[in-house]
Order: sequence, then C-alpha cells, then structure tokens
Amino acid sequence: MNALVTKLDHIRISLTLRHTWAPATAASKVQLSTLPPEPVIPSKKPFKVELVGGKRYSWCTCGHSKKQPFCDGSHKFKAQGLSPLRFVPEKDTTVWLCGCKYTNNPPYCDGTHKQDFIVSATLHEETDS
Ligand code: FES
Repeated sequence: MNALVTKLDHIRISLTLRHTWAPATAASKVQLSTLPPEPVIPSKKPFKVELVGGKRYSWCTCGHSKKQPFCDGSHKFKAQGLSPLRFVPEKDTTVWLCGCKYTNNPPYCDGTHKQDFIVSATLHEETDS
C-alpha cells in the first residue's frame, strides 16, 4: 500500500455541483472516493478454524459478514468495491484467520490486531439496517 495512505485514511473528493438554474443553497453534494471502502472490524481477535484440504473458502474482507470469518455476501450491499479473498488449502489444517480485517497476510492473522489502531478502534456491531 502506498506509504502516504494508511489503511484507515480515506481520500475523499468532495464536489459541490451547482447548477446555474438552481440557487446556491440548493447545491447538491457528491462524495467520490478514490479508494475502496475500508473494512469494518468485526473482531479484535483471530478465528481458529479447521480447514479441509482442497476445499474452497471465501474469507470476508469487508467485516460485514455475519458468518465470520467467512463471506456471506454482505459486501455486495454494504461494502461495494471489496470482494472476499478466495483460497484453497492444500491439506487439512488448523489456522488462525484474521478477524480484524487489517492483517498484512490475508487471510491469516499476523498480529496486526494488537496494534493501537485496532485496539482503540470501535468494534463493528452488525445491524440489519
Ligand atoms: S485478527 Fe487481524 S491480524 Fe490478528
């Protein structure tokens, strides 16, 4: 990732569109983002998971899934621009899959959840809205 852009930074471009036929107070604002949405943090700890060799898994990257640490399709509605990470383990194995969604070695936990920006972050509480 670009050193100038941290994972929690959003670069947003705010444009104010003023139509010549509309008064300035009625100007519409459009928010454009140059980056995909940031994941929410569903857990500040990894998930210990037993994986079956040769089976395809989809690890949730957006944090909105209710089937953590796996994808349930929520990104399609709540985090467009993010996609699950699909992987197939070679053999049966037990692993620690990242729950904070900020690992640098997805889908595996690399200890990033111990960093201050995760420890001090608000845990995402899933709602149906
Ligand atoms: S849970 Fe995300 S790095 Fe450990």
